[in-house]
Amino acid sequence: MYYPEELIEEVRQKSDIVDVISGYISLQKKGSNYMCCCPFHGEKTPSFSVNRARQIYKCFGCGEGGNVITFVMKYENCSFPEALKMLAEKAGVELPQAEYSEEAKRRERRRLRLLEVSKEAAKFYYVMLRNERGARAKEYLDKRQLSDETRKRFGLGYAPARGEELLAYLRQKGVTDDLIRDAGLAKTDERRGTTTQFWNRVMFPIQDINHRVIGFGGRIMGSDDSGPKYLNSPETEIFDKSRNLYGMNYARSARTGNMILCEGYMDVISMHQAGFTQAVASLGTAFTPGQAALIKKYTKDVLLAYDSDGAGVRAALRAIRILRDAGMSGRIINMSPYKDPDEFIKNLGQEAFQERIDHAENSFMFEIRMLEREFDLSDPEGKTDFHNQIARKLCDFSEDVERENYIEAVAEKYHIGFDNLRKLVVNMAAKTGGYAVQTAERPKSGIQSRNKNTPEENARKAQRLLLTWLTDYPQLYKKIKSYLSAEDFTVELYSKIASRMFADIEKDTFNPASIINMFEEEKDQSEAASLFTTKLPELESEQEKEKAFHDILVSVKKNSHDYYSARSGVDIMALSKVIEGKKALEELNNTHISLN
Ligand code: UTP
Ligand code: MN
Repeated sequence: MYYPEELIEEVRQKSDIVDVISGYISLQKKGSNYMCCCPFHGEKTPSFSVNRARQIYKCFGCGEGGNVITFVMKYENCSFPEALKMLAEKAGVELPQAEYSEEAKRRERRRLRLLEVSKEAAKFYYVMLRNERGARAKEYLDKRQLSDETRKRFGLGYAPARGEELLAYLRQKGVTDDLIRDAGLAKTDERRGTTTQFWNRVMFPIQDINHRVIGFGGRIMGSDDSGPKYLNSPETEIFDKSRNLYGMNYARSARTGNMILCEGYMDVISMHQAGFTQAVASLGTAFTPGQAALIKKYTKDVLLAYDSDGAGVRAALRAIRILRDAGMSGRIINMSPYKDPDEFIKNLGQEAFQERIDHAENSFMFEIRMLEREFDLSDPEGKTDFHNQIARKLCDFSEDVERENYIEAVAEKYHIGFDNLRKLVVNMAAKTGGYAVQTAERPKSGIQSRNKNTPEENARKAQRLLLTWLTDYPQLYKKIKSYLSAEDFTVELYSKIASRMFADIEKDTFNPASIINMFEEEKDQSEAASLFTTKLPELESEQEKEKAFHDILVSVKKNSHDYYSARSGVDIMALSKVIEGKKALEELNNTHISLN
């Protein structure tokens, strides 16, 4: 929901900061300021100061500061629009109503309905496992050494051989066939009518972080049973496989400071049973960036406990890249001589596994070790190729210190001289030059709308627009961060905003108004605020939007490249920006960035 800048300003002006904050905590007048103990960090002597004339607050203890809107956001732990709404109500300013609210309410009601149906189904399966028809399933779980407590904790169940039983049960509860189907529990076709998705399988309910059942995995019990080993619910309105993880409902509160990512449901269950309640698994599909983002809300330290076979290694390598893109480090647990954590724990037990956790391998070193397998090191040519590949990978580190450390570690482990490897890396980095930027004017981006602006004005505008784009589509940042950094914003204020914004997006705490906090000058505050309330040019199609965004990004990058090129003679930092900029522009030229 967009509120015009003037309206936001009106709400802000009509909400006196001292009055508003006094409504939450009692303030004491001290000179021209009002003081109290900071509500945002624990303290005994007041260092939280509110200034009426400037309409800002600042804590000299923890550094929190901002305006009346940011205060409410922080205090109420709510979003910018929510804070605005609260303040507008108190100040008697009428805000335009959000058009989507009815639709959103309807969607929410439907989601709740589907969740209820899933819960009913889980209950049904749960009971089935515990009556005589579940005997074979019970035997199967016995064989897999799952305790009663574990079965209960994970809500394990059994889908009886006659699938219609679930249908009858749900219908008798008043659930329509349409809902049963939409919950992913049945299929309908003209010839056979409604048929259930699961029959004669051990059932693993999949829960979201709030313990609500959103889908199921079902396992066959014998090798002669028909169908795939595991069958999963299809994606539904409540079951998004790319944003949920099996076991996360417990792992989120494990407080171990790390999480263990496994491949299978059974791995998660055995790990939890052995006390590793920080284990999670993806849902019958490969690990996704959405799942990485979910983990990152709780920890940045991820241990991979993937299968030790070829497919497992490939999956681990993909997961490492996804974690790295999300700004997390991965460590790899060595499972040998066993195939997966479930087998490992059954054979060697909890303590041995803990030892493997403690000695998990750094993901970069793991990647290099796997890379090594592809080369014949007894052949000089193979060896050279291997070293070049290492150098190429080392170029990916943008932090000098980090890169140097890895060069050192790799050089030592693979007996390459440190200086030699370093030279290889520098040469490799230098080879990545050459770019071709499209210069044809595409006015729809809003950068060059038939104006006679100076290049500086255009550059400023492009940077401003890019920040507005990223405000509207913060998820885009992750896609472009390899091309863009805060230094690319040559306007100082924008660079500051970008740097904070990117850090916040990384932490999933991005919130426009908190960025206003950074500035004490009203001029800067309102310029920052305007970025977050500007409306982007109205563009019809997704394609047009993508084009426009691409143009703005390239324009900002091009400007930054020109800017640093002009300085590269005198400034070392500028030189590395120039090299990086060249490479980014070249890549951007061949890269399509989709908006979602
Ligand atoms: P695995 O084949 O490694 O199974 O699949 P597992 O977890 O070791 O299972 P057990 O020990 O034989 O019971 C790992 C995960 O891949 C998905 C499931 O999510 C499974 O947990 N999978 C596997 C499927 O979705 N379908 C399949 O047919 C097989
Ligand atoms: Mn297994």
